[in-house]
Amino acid sequence: MKEVLPYHVGIIMDGNGRWAVERGLSRSEGHQAGAENLESLLCHIYDRHIPYVSLYAFSTENFKRAEKEVSFLMNLFLDLFQKKLVKLKKLNVQILFSGRRENIPEKVWLAMKKLEEETKEGNRGVLNICLNYGGQYEIVDMTKKIVSLALSGKLKVSDITKEKVEENLYQNLPPLDFVIRTSGEKRISNFMLYQSAYAEYYFPKVYFPDFDCEEFDKAILEFQKRKRRFGGN
Ligand code: IPE
Ligand code: IPE
Ligand code: MG
Repeated sequence: MKEVLPYHVGIIMDGNGRWAVERGLSRSEGHQAGAENLESLLCHIYDRHIPYVSLYAFSTENFKRAEKEVSFLMNLFLDLFQKKLVKLKKLNVQILFSGRRENIPEKVWLAMKKLEEETKEGNRGVLNICLNYGGQYEIVDMTKKIVSLALSGKLKVSDITKEKVEENLYQNLPPLDFVIRTSGEKRISNFMLYQSAYAEYYFPKVYFPDFDCEEFDKAILEFQKRKRRFGGN
């Protein structure tokens, strides 16, 4: 029998700070540990034939954090995009970014654009990285694009459909089937509000640095127990 797997998984990578504090380490060391975990976890997910992964790396609201933490994270992203995600390039995964440009340091932005360009032919799977991302802002930005099209006469109001809305989000991705938030917090904190309309949620207690391939497999077993109805019966 064919195994039931999510087609699109979202991961809210939470708990790096608490992971570190509980070990007497700095929050930065927690973020570093989270980043170290990422590559093998992603390879495992694509090996399991799950083609779409969305990662919540940094929310728009995370800019409220101490400047030291924000700048550490931005440098960590730079390192990830320039070096650590190389394995994914070899795996033939297409990397995309969702979020706003503002406040992202130029060098990080350039590395993001380069990675998108270098992986645009990837056909093994898609990795959507949400950075300076907020689900409400995504809806605001989509609305601006659609209203501009309508005002310039390129789109009739009667032609605004669900498909048209989806085409004007940051990325036109399939809906999320399964959203995992590590660290035990049970909230979505502005993650992919539109795309998660019928997603199943899972809130493991482990902090992100400890969310390894084995934990991911446990999550999938949980997903397989869910009965999805999409409003039907
Ligand atoms: C998630 O870990 C990483 C980001 C939000 C960038 P946190 O930094 O939120 O860790 P906790 O929630 O404080 O433990
Ligand atoms: C959500 O985590 C954002 C990311 C994991 C990138 P937060 O730690 O920022 O969320 P809250 O503040 O606990 O809701
Ligand atoms: Mg957190």
